[in-house]
Amino acid sequence: MNGFAIAIDGPAAAGKGTLSKAVAAHFGFAHLDTGLLYRAVGAKTLLGVEPIEAALALVAEDLDAEGLRTPDVAQAASRVAVIPQVRAALVDFQRAFAARSGGAVLDGRDIGTVICPDARVKLFVTASPEVRAERRFLELNAKGDPSTRAEVLADVQARDARDMERVEAPLKPAQDAVLIDTSDLSIEDAVAQAVAIIEARTNGG
Ligand code: CDP
Repeated sequence: MNGFAIAIDGPAAAGKGTLSKAVAAHFGFAHLDTGLLYRAVGAKTLLGVEPIEAALALVAEDLDAEGLRTPDVAQAASRVAVIPQVRAALVDFQRAFAARSGGAVLDGRDIGTVICPDARVKLFVTASPEVRAERRFLELNAKGDPSTRAEVLADVQARDARDMERVEAPLKPAQDAVLIDTSDLSIEDAVAQAVAIIEARTNGG
């Protein structure tokens, strides 16, 4: 029997990572940031590796590589993410993770629609582009990244457009996803909303 999977999707820098980690910790579930898979493949292409080859050769340790959170790698990730064979190469790893018996939270773009269409709970986390860009700017700035606010907003918008317009597994809410707009929510409030939605689903079916 499959484990209890929670799918958390949404556009760039919507706060999926923070929310997913907190939700996973709350329920004692494992967490997979699926963006890291695409970032790891994107990072390899920046070193000259062919994208499909990089995706087929990906191993779990690649997700711990340094420098995967930079804007250049994010752009490279969204470019490889449009390639159907790259996405196909990453499916089994994600589904195996979702099926682990202790419960799993996966965050990404296509978890509720493609990777785990049977997830017990699906959340679609959004915020306005300006709010998302400001959060990502502060995050990058704190790490010493030289990107300006305008550059970060342009990165977020370019990736959203590419992610929504691609043919294979485009970014969109699953029909049965619950929307959480975090534009005006603190992290604590967003986590509380997510936990309440998941608990309602756990208790009510
Ligand atoms: O953290 P952020 O929201 O900025 O990005 P991410 O989740 O690390 O994802 C980086 C890129 O990988 C996205 O812009 C997508 O193009 C791609 N991605 C995807 O196509 N499918 C996923 N399940 C996760 C990420």
